[in-house]
Amino acid sequence: MIKPDAVQRSLVGEVISRLERKGLKIVGMKMLWVDKGLASTHYAEHSEKPFFNDLVEYITSSPVIAMVFEGRNAVNVVRTIVGKTNPVEASPGTVRGDFGLETGRNIIHASDSLASAEREINLFFSNNELFDYSKIDEKWLYE
Ligand code: RTP
Ligand code: MG
Repeated sequence: MIKPDAVQRSLVGEVISRLERKGLKIVGMKMLWVDKGLASTHYAEHSEKPFFNDLVEYITSSPVIAMVFEGRNAVNVVRTIVGKTNPVEASPGTVRGDFGLETGRNIIHASDSLASAEREINLFFSNNELFDYSKIDEKWLYE
């Protein structure tokens, strides 16, 4: 998910481009304004954390871009491109390392496991918003 700060800072194309050029296949994408209920469910694992209320405020403060990417090792590949949670610690070349300054404004969310990807995809997308198709680059991306 491209977070509100990145939408406001005109980084949508830049972030999508990095994930797309890596070789990941876009299978779902939409803009939406996350409400407090969806934000709380999405970040339920953090509900007891001191930063939870600020996190919900942040993620509901402007529209976001929700996306589903498919590819071999997609979860790990995306997390590597995204970089560490705190942009101060995120390596240059990562999305957070290149564009962020603070943990509470860190540009992008990425699912941290296949199980959480499945849970989050179901939260944000219905089946008819996800596309099963082949791309012409597949034999050049995979051995
Ligand atoms: P995300 O879920 O958004 O992809 O980020 P993440 O896995 O790298 O980090 P996570 O621990 O799941 O934290 C979720 C989001 O909460 C905000 N946060 N603020 N102020 C703080 O100490 C703090 N810690 C986390 C960040 O926006 C983080 O991405
Ligand atoms: Mg997380």
